[in-house]
Amino acid sequence: MRSSWSNKLSLIFGPRPPLNWLLICLVSILVLIALLGSSSSSAFDSLTSTTRPDVYTNYRRLKEQARSDYLELRSLTVEASLQKDFTLCGKERENYVPCYNVSGNLLAGFNDGKEVDRHCEESREQQHCLVRPPKDYKIPLSWPAGRDVIWSGNVKISKDQFLSSGSMTKRLMLLEENQIAFHSDDGMIFDDVKDYSRQIAEMIGLGSDSEFRQVGVHSVLDIGCGFGSFGAHLISLKLMAVCIAAYELTGSQVQLALERGLPAIIGNFLSRQLPFPSLSYDMVHCAKCGIIWDNKDGMFLLEVDRLLKPGGYFVLTSPTSRPHGSLLSAKKGNMLTPFEEFTRNLCWSLLAQQEETFIWQKTLDAQCYTSSKMGALPLCKDGQDVQSYYQPLTSCISGTSSKRWIPIQNRSSGSLSSAELEVHGKYLSSAIFCFIDGVNNEDFSEDLQFWRSALRNYWSLLTPLIFSDHPKRPGDEDPLPPHNMIRNVMDMNAHYGGFNAALLEAEKSVWVMNVVPTGVYNTLPFILDQGFAGVLHDWCEPFPTYPRTYDMIHANGLLTHLTSEGCSVMDLLFEIDRILRPEGWVILSDKLGPVEKARMLATQIRWEARVIDLQNGSDKRLLVCQKPFVRK
Ligand SMILES: *[C@@H]1O[C@H](CO)[C@@H](O)[C@H](O)[C@H]1NC(C)=O
Ligand SMILES: *[C@@H]1O[C@H](CO)[C@@H](O)[C@H](O)[C@H]1NC(C)=O
Ligand SMILES: *[C@@H]1O[C@H](CO)[C@@H](O)[C@H](O)[C@H]1NC(C)=O
Repeated sequence: MRSSWSNKLSLIFGPRPPLNWLLICLVSILVLIALLGSSSSSAFDSLTSTTRPDVYTNYRRLKEQARSDYLELRSLTVEASLQKDFTLCGKERENYVPCYNVSGNLLAGFNDGKEVDRHCEESREQQHCLVRPPKDYKIPLSWPAGRDVIWSGNVKISKDQFLSSGSMTKRLMLLEENQIAFHSDDGMIFDDVKDYSRQIAEMIGLGSDSEFRQVGVHSVLDIGCGFGSFGAHLISLKLMAVCIAAYELTGSQVQLALERGLPAIIGNFLSRQLPFPSLSYDMVHCAKCGIIWDNKDGMFLLEVDRLLKPGGYFVLTSPTSRPHGSLLSAKKGNMLTPFEEFTRNLCWSLLAQQEETFIWQKTLDAQCYTSSKMGALPLCKDGQDVQSYYQPLTSCISGTSSKRWIPIQNRSSGSLSSAELEVHGKYLSSAIFCFIDGVNNEDFSEDLQFWRSALRNYWSLLTPLIFSDHPKRPGDEDPLPPHNMIRNVMDMNAHYGGFNAALLEAEKSVWVMNVVPTGVYNTLPFILDQGFAGVLHDWCEPFPTYPRTYDMIHANGLLTHLTSEGCSVMDLLFEIDRILRPEGWVILSDKLGPVEKARMLATQIRWEARVIDLQNGSDKRLLVCQKPFVRK
């Protein structure tokens, strides 16, 4: 997506032919004026010599006029040609996710499963177009109603598809007329998910699943989340559950989860690491998630080990263990299955097994890997995966020398729920600050303080009123608009996650995908350790999500950063437009120059846009935009 200057120029000036044509027009006008000028001057020549300067100035004026007309015409044509370039995409791109073109990848020679992997180098765009919503798209219901009922026209799924789908969580949905209703948390329809969650808690040794947090389980990576019902339940228990699943052409688990207002991102680890640092999650969960764990010499298990914090849990619900006992060897034989051997080498201990569900715990002891009885796997070099951005899977153990090697059970006293943010600072200072280089308590408190006040400002801006000729913020007399129905938020340049923390503190019912751009200081471990969702991403590339999956996108200082990285702001705005739902909001905060430029581009892709001067004497501006609902 890094477009060259010549591309940019051709974008600005449009196709050649009309320009040439205009130039010919201009030249003929000038010739005509010159002829008129000379003939008139020769006619008046003999009469009086004093008229000469007048005629000359008239001629000059005419010429100027022609020139300015020409310039105006040209700018009009340029605008028209820009409008023409940014057409709406065809129907086939309604659910378009760049980098996941399977047929294209096959053509490019990827096979053996690699064709469904992420290949951004294969989907460089030549022509921009705006991804449009399906014909019967409707604005999602607001949270929490939208968690249990979605519009079936908003997601790409057929009735047959989920009636025939067999997975446990997928059964928990019913189709009504133009809606899909999911299991509601009141247990009115099914209790399966609650039972399942309770079962896991009991297997870990807890009285109930409300005690997960007490043993340090705050964040869960849910691989292949079905339609997200397990995650929805965990979120109701105040855990952060992020769904991750492969790109799917129809019936996508990630699209459904996001439509329900649940954290999710496209990803698979067929050949590459996920874009998270090591020691990121307290629990990794897979229920019939389709991964064959003992393939590829256990590399996938090694990736799970990398992601798990010490003392964290791997929960696997797999029907394959039942009939053949392929996960665990039968009591009588002493031969280890490959699976058992992998988990032993990883120093995992099998905590419990019930029916189809197995729970392993990652070791608390970093020395375990090197102790003599194991030791089959080498340790990775220091800091090898700090910038883990789709690196190839490695066959070494990560994180053992990290300062963040703290068993999750040792964090159980700290809590990061929104109600307890006062504890937040203290907890962080004792448990995290000293373990992340370059972050100190003062920086963090200042950051949070800043975002507290910034948020108060931002939130009242999210109304179409600010785009009117006499912009005003809604006052007390205005009814609360439904305009800012916001659940899925992305912070494209999240820094310490202060925006997320401020949102929680203000008790907004949102979750935030905190993105740390590649090329800035990697604060992602710090964000994840607060129990927030987060991911590393290179904003010169498309983001791994489906169209229309975020309600609000926020970026502070990203425009400046991108320009320094040499990638195109236009590409970025197109990508934001793709992932933003109709009537969704964009807030870009940056220096005046980049903001003005972005405003120009934003109006070209039909966003409502307004630059807000923060009026405190700094050269920072806010660009507030709303994406229109284009129905045709
Ligand atoms: C996928 O790749 C094929 C072959 O390169 C191309 O013809 C097609 O237009 C691409 N599809 C999309 C949606 O970009
Ligand atoms: C975790 O806590 C246990 C007991 O409370 C303690 O013995 C151990 O040293 C702690 N580990 C770390 C890494 O802080
Ligand atoms: C003005 O606000 C910006 C960001 O909103 C902040 O970074 C800056 O320090 C403020 N400047 C003054 C002079 O208050």
